[in-house]
Amino acid sequence: MYKLVIFDLDGIITDTAEYHYVAWKKLANNIGIDIDRAFNEQLKGVSRIDSLEKILANNNLSNTYSEKDKAALADEKNNCYLLLIKQITPKDVLPGIIDLLKWLKQQGIYIALGSASRNAPAIVEGLEVTKYFDYIVNPDSVKMGKPAPDLFLEAAKHFEVAPAQCIVIEDASSGIKAAKDGLMYAVGVGNEEVLNLADMVVGTTDSLLDVIKKLIIY
Ligand code: BG6
Ligand code: MG
Repeated sequence: MYKLVIFDLDGIITDTAEYHYVAWKKLANNIGIDIDRAFNEQLKGVSRIDSLEKILANNNLSNTYSEKDKAALADEKNNCYLLLIKQITPKDVLPGIIDLLKWLKQQGIYIALGSASRNAPAIVEGLEVTKYFDYIVNPDSVKMGKPAPDLFLEAAKHFEVAPAQCIVIEDASSGIKAAKDGLMYAVGVGNEEVLNLADMVVGTTDSLLDVIKKLIIY
């Protein structure tokens, strides 16, 4: 019954979630504040500008910066992030992902990338996995970012499949919420408490092939 699997990128295909954290922490420190890993969970899956807003709001700084200043801060974070991802190679694909992509292809299941990142096309190129994706959703083409379901619904619309025929693979609570509000099956990778809205949670990406096989074959 499942026809489309929608992959998140950062934290699922590769470990760039860590680089986003490092870059945000550096930006925060530059403006005299800090973020920790627990707070960072709220940033996962969230767009660049919305992430900045959350960091500023958490420090009562929302009104301290003009829109222009905020755009400059978001650029500063992205420049730091771009330096961190510069060296990305196929070795940075997380365990089990290539086998999963190959298996889905063999089964004739559509594969989409549903990432909030504007850097996604460059990252999948660096990882040399672009060929597996039938469709990469452009985050600028949808109205609302995660936790809204728009990105995932756009993927379903592209293939003319119903949300109930889609499986979403996500490491962020915002992404799991987006999948569930979009009426899709949500597989979380990470901590069960953080991803408590998911239909199923695995600890690491190397368990994904087994669970997705079971969902698709049985
Ligand atoms: C998501 C990440 O995939 O993309 C977020 O989980 C990030 O941390 C968002 O903010 C936007 O990414 P980018 O590369 O466009 O800044
Ligand atoms: Mg992610």
